[in-house]
Amino acid sequence: MDEYVTLNYKGETYRLPVIIGTENECGIDILALRRDTGLITFDPGFANTGACKSSITYMDGEKGILRYRGIPVEELAEHSTFKETSYLLINGRLPTAEELRHFSIMLNDHSLVHEDMKTFFQNFPRASHPMGILSAMVNALRSFYPELQTTEEEINFTVTRLLAKVRTMAAMSYKISRGHTVVYPRPDLAYCENFLNMMFNTPVKPYEFVREVVRALEVFWILHADHEQNCSTTAVRVVGSGRVNLYAAISAGMSALWGPLHGGANQAVVEMLSDIYRSGGDYRKAVERAKDKDDPFRLMGFGHRVYKTYDPRAKIMKKMCDDLLSALKLKDPLLDIAKELEEVAVNDAYFIDHNLYPNVDFYSGIVLRAIGIPTNMFTVMFAIGRLPGWIAQWKESMDDPQWRISRPRQIYTGPSETHYVPMAKRKGI
Ligand code: SDX
Repeated sequence: MDEYVTLNYKGETYRLPVIIGTENECGIDILALRRDTGLITFDPGFANTGACKSSITYMDGEKGILRYRGIPVEELAEHSTFKETSYLLINGRLPTAEELRHFSIMLNDHSLVHEDMKTFFQNFPRASHPMGILSAMVNALRSFYPELQTTEEEINFTVTRLLAKVRTMAAMSYKISRGHTVVYPRPDLAYCENFLNMMFNTPVKPYEFVREVVRALEVFWILHADHEQNCSTTAVRVVGSGRVNLYAAISAGMSALWGPLHGGANQAVVEMLSDIYRSGGDYRKAVERAKDKDDPFRLMGFGHRVYKTYDPRAKIMKKMCDDLLSALKLKDPLLDIAKELEEVAVNDAYFIDHNLYPNVDFYSGIVLRAIGIPTNMFTVMFAIGRLPGWIAQWKESMDDPQWRISRPRQIYTGPSETHYVPMAKRKGI
């Protein structure tokens, strides 16, 4: 049964259709609003605006639900691999054994990076942030691989090439920033093992794989693989709507993710926890500062635009911290501080009233520290995880008959018409 909302404006009554999603989330279709009423909507930050219809990821912020192509993220974290989850997000279903085998071979075959790219990496200042390097180098892929991206086959080839090369580029930027020999991908290693080997293998000390570390990386990337219309995915869709090549659209997503309010929060959380640790571990002071409206300090890793309860990914990440540190027989004082901080915050009226709970970034840095990833590469790790989601969302937008170049309107609040004043007649302020 079709549903409508009625809008009464200046003596006229308008009926606007209501769109109903698979899980009964509803939206007012305003495609004809300006044409029929002269009105636009006003929604800074798009908190109440649906930019598209999508069948990739479903989130329920009130119930803490997250599903990729209908499969709960908890089941994928338990049973899947990052490669298989990437295939699921991009192709819309789980692969057969033969399809997964072929996908693995393609990822390995295209994991090398053009040798001339090494010159680029070597000429970034040593203190460059790895996210700036990665977003620049992903954009540069277009120069090295200028093939068309029009047919399904060309697009799938470009997609596989990007998924294959992004971890090589990330590891290469790390090795070069340390002045170490670059380690090349090996055809005999799976996706996550290859990345760990490229990051940590050295000519004098071969990297030793630990099963729990490899599994923690798989799950870390599965948990980050997509998250519907978040800031960086919106950047990919908006930049892609101009019909630019995929590399440029993904590079824009990486730039958006870098911010401390978004993917950069995982680095900001560990820096916050380290500050608390260094200043004696007074986590209660951090909670009080976060509540003080006159203090710009925020509890990093807390709060979310959609989740108004515990982020389901944070629950898995928190357990992974305990399991991984125990398997490695490691202790991390930052984990103890994080748990104390969470305990105080989630029982504090301010956080309860504002629906502020741990998000994916609150515990993820502890996992990355245990794996041995340097703090300034935490957001790069998020970007590698989110890449299949960005690609899936970009492909869906390219195939969406309703998708047009993104061009929002505005409410103008500047001066009414005025005129040019010759220099001689201008008065200072
Ligand atoms: C990610 O969108 C996604 O899906 C993102 C992501 C993904 O997978 O792609 O989940 C990944 O980006 C997770 C979020 C990582 N960022 C952080 O942890 C940074 C800290 N959190 C925030 O700055 C904030 O909670 C946001 C950015 C996450 C959400 O911002 P909103 O929805 O715009 O909320 P807001 O800034 O308007 O805050 C609403 C209220 C305000 O108080 P009032 O003025 O209404 O009284 O809540 C307060 C804020 O001051 N608030 C916080 C807080 N977050 C919100 N107060 C203290 N500490 C915080 N962390």
